[in-house]
Amino acid sequence: MKDQTVCVSPPAISEDGYVSLTTPVHRASTIVFPNAAAYANRAERGPDGYSYGLGGTPTTRRLQATLNSLAGAEGTLLLPSGQAAIMLVFVTVLKPGNTILIPDCAYPPVRSFCQSFLAERGIGFRVYDPDWSPDQVGDLIDDSVKLLWIETPGSATMEMVDVGGLVKRAHAKGVLVGCDNTWATPLNFKPVLHGVDFVIEALTKYAGGHSDLLMGSVSVRQADWYPELRTTMSLMGLGVSPDDCSLVLRGLETMSLRLRHAAKTAFDFARQIAERIPGELVLHPALPHSPSHALWKRDFAGASGVFSIIIPDHVRDAVIKQVDAAQSFSIGASWGGTHSLLAPMSVADERSFVKPEHRGTILRISIGLEDPADLWADLERIVAVIEG
Ligand SMILES: Cc1ncc(COP(=O)(O)O)c(C=O)c1O
Repeated sequence: MKDQTVCVSPPAISEDGYVSLTTPVHRASTIVFPNAAAYANRAERGPDGYSYGLGGTPTTRRLQATLNSLAGAEGTLLLPSGQAAIMLVFVTVLKPGNTILIPDCAYPPVRSFCQSFLAERGIGFRVYDPDWSPDQVGDLIDDSVKLLWIETPGSATMEMVDVGGLVKRAHAKGVLVGCDNTWATPLNFKPVLHGVDFVIEALTKYAGGHSDLLMGSVSVRQADWYPELRTTMSLMGLGVSPDDCSLVLRGLETMSLRLRHAAKTAFDFARQIAERIPGELVLHPALPHSPSHALWKRDFAGASGVFSIIIPDHVRDAVIKQVDAAQSFSIGASWGGTHSLLAPMSVADERSFVKPEHRGTILRISIGLEDPADLWADLERIVAVIEG
């Protein structure tokens, strides 16, 4: 071999005796075949055979298998973001003439996608109030409804729904059910075991866990959906980087400890805040006064580190000053990382059934891994302003 060829195709080395605890990062666009016939017949390898980098490498498969096992599912796919995971389900399941039901408290881009992209393609959507009973939501189901979407607890306002009850009503009418399980993570809730057909996780949050990557997953209850979703993915050219998969695999190794710590700190804070300001201003399903408490207790094995407080209008500006002055919290979107975050938001404009108490500013709080005393010093100043 001439030097230039050796540079491109390095000599083989021995891997004998090399056993490591880590998953190697297999990066590839091209997959090499033993002969022309194998290349010509590569489609026969099926959705999980290796034939092109877009479909994944062994690093990708390791993460898929781990998440699938955690979800108790029949197949798990990886997408470039949580939002992409939700949209993959929507565009695969819904056809022109169909309708999707979404909760009022869904992650806001879900509604935007329905309002613009799906509506322009002849797919309708209806919004249900997460406080409605499963029977009331079931009453929205007509022949056009194909998919019922769930997010529990809901974004910012934290309402929980009766997943089993909704699944029962939907399945009785031949409607599929999808659930955004990002807040709970598969460690605290496994929607597939409650009959949910598609579970998405924004791995960007607790699984990645360090605010440095974006990824999402879809786990399916019925294996038949796996190749269908994989086909949509490859038609749309959607894949994920093996480097990012390796970061998520690393994140998963510590997820239970991070989650437990963040959940405990967040719950302690929520309880202390609820002792100082009216309890209904503190939105956390593990608090006994929460209207969602009974469902949370029945279905979930634990909480995560995200909760909200409602900021009364008359102290809004003074609270925002304290948010700006916070020393240990950063201000920003997303959550579930090691850094604690504050995100003041207003949800009223994007909701159909706005409750009077949700009309103003809601402060979403994501607890990370800083010392709780430092975090409390920031929160205490905010609570003191609300207390008056
Ligand atoms: C509940 C929920 N689902 C999905 C997403 C979307 O995840 P990603 O940021 O990875 O697109 C988010 C993002 O904030 C979220 O809060």
